[in-house]
Amino acid sequence: MIRPVLAEEWAEVKELRLTALRDPVAHLAFLETYEEAAARPDSFWRDRTARAAQEAGAVRQFVAVTEAGQWVGTVAVLIEEAGTKDWAGLPVERRQGHLIGVYVAPDHRGGGLTRALFAAALEWAWQRGAERVRLIVHPENGRALGFYRKAGFVRSGVTVPLAGKPGEHEWEMVYERSRSDG
Ligand SMILES: CC(C)(COP(=O)(O)OP(=O)(O)OC[C@H]1O[C@@H](n2cnc3c(N)ncnc32)[C@H](O)[C@@H]1OP(=O)(O)O)[C@@H](O)C(=O)NCCC(=O)NCCS
Repeated sequence: MIRPVLAEEWAEVKELRLTALRDPVAHLAFLETYEEAAARPDSFWRDRTARAAQEAGAVRQFVAVTEAGQWVGTVAVLIEEAGTKDWAGLPVERRQGHLIGVYVAPDHRGGGLTRALFAAALEWAWQRGAERVRLIVHPENGRALGFYRKAGFVRSGVTVPLAGKPGEHEWEMVYERSRSDG
């Protein structure tokens, strides 16, 4: 089942994030390390989960939960407002969704689960009035790139310098809302 997180599920949110940060490609996939995340106090996870559980907030986190109750995938969507600046200091020209924290457990990859997570995330972004949805991906993260292309994301041409890694850049990929996208 794909659903948004509930405010009280902060311990599950934390556990899934720590699992994601132990993935072999975590150094390409996420800007945070396992050690940084593991050192955060419970209050951090409580606040983060409470924010991401709101239906009409600035961010919403979706999770894939098996029938046995196991959390096996996640994506979060930030709403970025036109006229603001993003985390990298670049101007946001249109209201848009920004997908972050994309992770699916190895046993659940390659099927329809990642697609279903993305469908839920995009639908929420369109409901919130986003004109497009973007994400940032490391060019060496071949599997993520392959999935994003398959899901209809294309490179925008914008690259983002990687903090702490001089000369390395990540790619922005975008999905433009079309008439069939709700
Ligand atoms: C990224 C992720 C969510 C993608 O979900 P997934 O279920 O694995 O994706 P899929 O297997 O459906 O699609 C990947 C596609 O890329 C292809 N692919 C796999 N490895 C590849 C590589 N090294 N280079 C190019 N393409 C590759 C696959 O063949 C597949 O395409 P196909 O269905 O046409 O065969 C998942 O792999 C994951 O959680 N990875 C670890 C965390 C991560 O990298 N997150 C993204 C951060 S930006």
